[in-house]
Amino acid sequence: MPTELDRRAFLQSAAVATVAAATGARTALAQSDAPSAARPVVIASANGTNATAKAADMIASGADPLDAVVAGVGLVEADPNDHSVGLGGLPNEDGVVELDASVMHGPTHRAGAVAALRNIVHPAAVAQRVLERTDHVLLVGEGALRFARAHGFPETELLTDEARRIWLHWKETHSERDDWIAPPAGDKAQSWLQHVQTFTYGTINCCAVDAAGNVAGVTTTSGLSYKIPGRVGDSPIIGAGLYVDNAVGAAGATGRGEAVILNAGSFSVVEQMRGGLAPQDACLAVLKRISDRTKDPRLLDANGKPNYQVYFYAITRDGRYGSAAMWSNFGRRAEFSIYAAGRNRTEDAACLYEGRPA
Ligand code: GLY
Repeated sequence: MPTELDRRAFLQSAAVATVAAATGARTALAQSDAPSAARPVVIASANGTNATAKAADMIASGADPLDAVVAGVGLVEADPNDHSVGLGGLPNEDGVVELDASVMHGPTHRAGAVAALRNIVHPAAVAQRVLERTDHVLLVGEGALRFARAHGFPETELLTDEARRIWLHWKETHSERDDWIAPPAGDKAQSWLQHVQTFTYGTINCCAVDAAGNVAGVTTTSGLSYKIPGRVGDSPIIGAGLYVDNAVGAAGATGRGEAVILNAGSFSVVEQMRGGLAPQDACLAVLKRISDRTKDPRLLDANGKPNYQVYFYAITRDGRYGSAAMWSNFGRRAEFSIYAAGRNRTEDAACLYEGRPA
């Protein structure tokens, strides 16, 4: 006999099917709606393939899922070639790298976060220390740096030469109403010019569930490139860029943080899963809500759809997973990293809208 939960899940799936029909939302069939007997499952943004592999390995060796995901994203934070996070992250408009990160641990329902943190390669590890060694959830700016120093985190110049050149190119070319002069054409190699003109919200989120169904997550980022100094995105805001509930699962976000904050994005995804939606459908439902609530003409394309990208990544405590993006190809194909059933790989994310903004 169907339970109330079954009935709600059926009604909500029908609602998502209606959303999909109305928007042309693409579902990605490879994503898993079946409980996985083969936990651990670790999900991450597309730049997190090394992170999912490392975290899964650690969990298989008995590590707590929080230690595992923080160690996993640490590989990306330390990679100078990833300009979205940690060392080599793109700086604020003054050329200073400011990092945001949060962690959340399902079994204890505790969280820690840092925002606008300078000079520390591993903000996620500092966020974990906030969780473990303070009675607070979020430390910002100078206070976060002093806390990191107190715990012995080494200070490092995070602005690599390549990131400085990208920022300088942006600074010299983004306006003709200042005194900076653009460099000569062909001045620089093309490989990094792609980063210059578009603002980027690159970030890494990674969530994991172990064999016992314990869940944890982390989100870490250098935030919006060329931001106003002090700007804080969704990544360190519990409920926005990350949320974990050990009774349900976990969700995280990347992309335009302001949109995710305004819709309590990751919390909303977890609540949709609590209500019975599968992870991918929960991600799509919240993307639809964000799209519907985007009213500012500045943020709409020629067809009235959001002109920005947002991704959600979600897992359940029984090992189901899914991811969805606002757009299927916003400069790059919408994908995510996943370790499940003993294999580490990338899969296509579902999308609310095909293609890119008009
Ligand atoms: N989602 C990253 C940011 O907006 O800072």
